[in-house]
Amino acid sequence: MTYETLLVETRGRVGLVTLNRPQALNALNRQLLDELKGVLARFEADAGIGAIVITGSEKAFAAGADIKEMQPYGFAEAVTEDLAAGWDAIAACRKPMIAAVSGFALGGGCELAMMCDFIIASETAKFGQPEITLGVIPGMGGTQRLTRAVGKAKAMDLVLTGRMMDAAEAERCGLVARVVAPEKLLDEALAAAEKIAGFSLPAVMMAKEAVGRAHETVLSEGMRAERRLFHALFATEDQKEGMAAFMEKRKPTFRNR
Ligand code: CAA
Repeated sequence: MTYETLLVETRGRVGLVTLNRPQALNALNRQLLDELKGVLARFEADAGIGAIVITGSEKAFAAGADIKEMQPYGFAEAVTEDLAAGWDAIAACRKPMIAAVSGFALGGGCELAMMCDFIIASETAKFGQPEITLGVIPGMGGTQRLTRAVGKAKAMDLVLTGRMMDAAEAERCGLVARVVAPEKLLDEALAAAEKIAGFSLPAVMMAKEAVGRAHETVLSEGMRAERRLFHALFATEDQKEGMAAFMEKRKPTFRNR
């Protein structure tokens, strides 16, 4: 199987997926989502795979949902297509997933990392939810998963200011499980995945499900609310301006402020 946006390999019982759109800092477009869904479904069905690692490049795990693709959306299209909802299939993967994050994990990139069961970060990692700077809000679970991971104060700080936090801060506030030197990132993540893949798969899957249950009790409600709000913002002039400004490499002038 060949992919245009991913590099996929197996290392023993570990499935390794490398996001590979270097020209766009691994921005998450429709094609990447479709390919990732396909790979995860394949790994889930493969008894020879016990754990999965998702990683990106040294510069970027992923710099967010693809702004170029979202820019033309209006509210009606966002709602009828249920924009961003396809990512729920990634979070629903039943085998353990580790995010190995180096460089930028912003917007949808941070959200994808949080869909994984835990994050191992390189010292160079930078996490953030900068959607507010584009005139929208996170739409792939950021307002819900980040708040559960780091608590209200830090989540509000990140979501409302759009600032980035470094790996040390991310570890301090509980977003990240381990921080390692950049050159050790992949080995550390693969070793953790290999260890998990050596245990009983049903036990691992139930452990994942049980911890997930504690974490997610009312997540579905939060996700529904977040998605409708995310879609609603595509009705605003500020979304048009925020995304146009990004594409044109200029500062946005928001009218509704
Ligand atoms: N979507 C589309 N293209 C993107 C992108 C994104 N999210 N992030 C970066 N790119 C592209 C840039 O447009 C640029 O392409 P060109 O060379 O063709 O101009 C290329 O990747 C390299 O990016 P930069 O030149 O900007 O690189 P930099 O090192 O100067 O800056 C950065 C890096 C700070 C990460 C900057 O690229 C950036 O701010 N990116 C956008 C981050 C962002 O806002 N993410 C949130 C997206 S919205 C979202 O994710 C919604 C949701 O929750 C569902």
